[in-house]
Amino acid sequence: MLCLGIEGTAEKLGVGIVSAEGEILANEGRPMPLREGIHPREAAQHHAQNIKALIERALSRAGVSMEEVDLIAFSRGPGLGPCLRVVAVAARTLALKYGIPVLGVNHCVAHIEIGRLTTGAEDPLTVYASGGNTQVTAYVEKRYRVFGETLDIALGNCIDQFARELKLGAPGGPIVERLAVGGSYVELPYVVKGMDLSYSGLLTAAVRQAKRASIEDVCFSLQETAFAMLVEVAERALAHTEKEEVLIAGGVVVNNRLQEMLRSMCEEHGAAFHAPPKEVLGDNGAMIAWLGVLSYLSGARQSIEETRVVQRWRTDEVEVLWR
Ligand code: ATP
Ligand code: FE2
Repeated sequence: MLCLGIEGTAEKLGVGIVSAEGEILANEGRPMPLREGIHPREAAQHHAQNIKALIERALSRAGVSMEEVDLIAFSRGPGLGPCLRVVAVAARTLALKYGIPVLGVNHCVAHIEIGRLTTGAEDPLTVYASGGNTQVTAYVEKRYRVFGETLDIALGNCIDQFARELKLGAPGGPIVERLAVGGSYVELPYVVKGMDLSYSGLLTAAVRQAKRASIEDVCFSLQETAFAMLVEVAERALAHTEKEEVLIAGGVVVNNRLQEMLRSMCEEHGAAFHAPPKEVLGDNGAMIAWLGVLSYLSGARQSIEETRVVQRWRTDEVEVLWR
């Protein structure tokens, strides 16, 4: 069985092809050139213009034809409405044209499942940080429960907006990471409320600090503060859930410093640290295809009417049928 998965919740379009055994035959991606952050309609247009070519590229990379594909999966949410709708229309069209089933799946759950597939983690606490999401989840009774999350903006968004304000470039994550090397600490607000995080005050304060302190110092301090907040929440969730593994997901955890902090927290708790390969950390089509496989094989079915997009779709609303 082969599943073709299409991802397009934000500015990145991805198409992956994965077998029922979990072999990733193709994972092609195309990010939109970023200038001033993401305009939902422009991103949707980018997806519409590139989706056909990207599907063809994925098929040729996998060495299969559309007739050999048994299932179409797509990211149904959460994400930007216009982007989600382009991807959904493409997925439904393929399904109808080739007479195969289509399944809309949850983007956040897909991040977790591709991480489990590629690292062999069995029952991890997942630390997921990207441009649009920041959450710490763990499996409990048929759901990925959210143990902590951001109350306002996502960690990646905080760093990206900081870089944009200071005209450092986009996306901000890798730029801030480079500038942070060799910086020293200047004070910034550390905001953890219960098990949840708040990054908007930190963003405002970091932009203000940049008028006084050196850019290297502010980048360093922004990373240290923002990451320490996330690691604190992860650490408490780990103690509470008594999980023995930590899995990372999302574009931000590519960051070396964040990985180092999480790894050392894991060592202190005797937990295994699992980092998937970079190609499947950020948004990608293979994760959508793999969640499609898991869902389909555990009995999930959707009529075309049931594939409506869901802009706000919480991770813990998905019933995990495959575990
Ligand atoms: P989602 O739809 O899950 O919110 P996304 O659209 O933000 O995902 P991802 O590829 O998961 O896409 O993540 C992109 C984010 O990762 C951006 O905010 C970017 O700045 C950040 N990022 C990339 N590299 C690094 C890095 N080295 N350090 C910190 N952040 C990084
Ligand atoms: Fe994502």
